[in-house]
Amino acid sequence: MRTQVAIIGAGPSGLILGQLLHRAGIDAVVLEAQTADYVLGRIRAGVLEQVAVDLLDEAGVGTRMHAEGLPHKGFDILIGGRRHHIDLYGLTGGSQVMVYGQTELTKDLMQARAAAGLTTVYEAKEVSIHDFDGERPRVRYLKDGVRQELECDFIAGCDGFHGVCRASVPKNAISNFERVYPFGWLGLLSDTPPVSEELIYAKHERGFALCSMRSHTRSRYYLQVPLSEKVEAWSDERFWEELRLRLDPKANADLVTGPSIEKSIAPLRSFVAEPMRFGRLFLAGDAAHIVPPTGAKGLNLAASDVRYL
Ligand code: APR
Repeated sequence: MRTQVAIIGAGPSGLILGQLLHRAGIDAVVLEAQTADYVLGRIRAGVLEQVAVDLLDEAGVGTRMHAEGLPHKGFDILIGGRRHHIDLYGLTGGSQVMVYGQTELTKDLMQARAAAGLTTVYEAKEVSIHDFDGERPRVRYLKDGVRQELECDFIAGCDGFHGVCRASVPKNAISNFERVYPFGWLGLLSDTPPVSEELIYAKHERGFALCSMRSHTRSRYYLQVPLSEKVEAWSDERFWEELRLRLDPKANADLVTGPSIEKSIAPLRSFVAEPMRFGRLFLAGDAAHIVPPTGAKGLNLAASDVRYL
């Protein structure tokens, strides 16, 4: 098989890139290690910054996001028991953020790919990349037990932090910078209305807390916890009790609690690799950098990478 751009990974980076290339008349094939359902099942970010919103519009996949997403013109910071409203819209001359789950975004991108008849190979196993320092890079993989080879002009490494692309770069050609923080974020997703119309970022002596959301009926809350914490030690009741301790009386009065539909601890780290280009291989998104998930920075940075690429 031959294509112009071999995209490794069908996360937001790979799918947005695929869509933009298609709009530009450039042929691309996406190779993804997992199944489409697995990719859609990952609970992740949900706040799109203006850059990402504009890019999705440009890619022609913004219709449902505008219909169902929640535009926010600002957010609250809670410090020392007092709320401070940050007027993003006013301060930036009209930029805002859009609350729209990454799962929904991924679904839209997958559907756009399928509707345009573009090739995505799911469950592509043992992906390996070759000759990207020359004119004719190649990607090898295993599909249904059969060895395949994809010839291309460029390889886009959109395969996330644990992917094969960054790992294939010679050690002396890449610099990695990393900082691991001594805490993690315990996240809880619940089908309850959000505590506030906009996000609340809380600084508290017991630790940071964030009240976020995915829709008018689905909330996402985070508590800073020591890295030694185990998620099993956190019943839903314990989570809600601890959250209450870190919020103000108004938030406590408005908070609607309910059973969690997902709960996990994300260790926070910052990781940056440079450069992002190695001959005919380009890295984008989590493959090149990981940032703490505040306000979906990883997702927005991925969109920005793809835009520049
Ligand atoms: N071969 C093929 N696919 C692979 C391989 C491999 N060897 N390794 C990883 N992948 C796939 C993963 O299964 C995943 O679907 O690459 C994809 C990478 O997607 P993400 O990890 O979501 O990375 P990215 O698209 O850069 O997303 C950036 O979105 O998901 C969030 O946390 C992420 O905020 C970050 C942003």
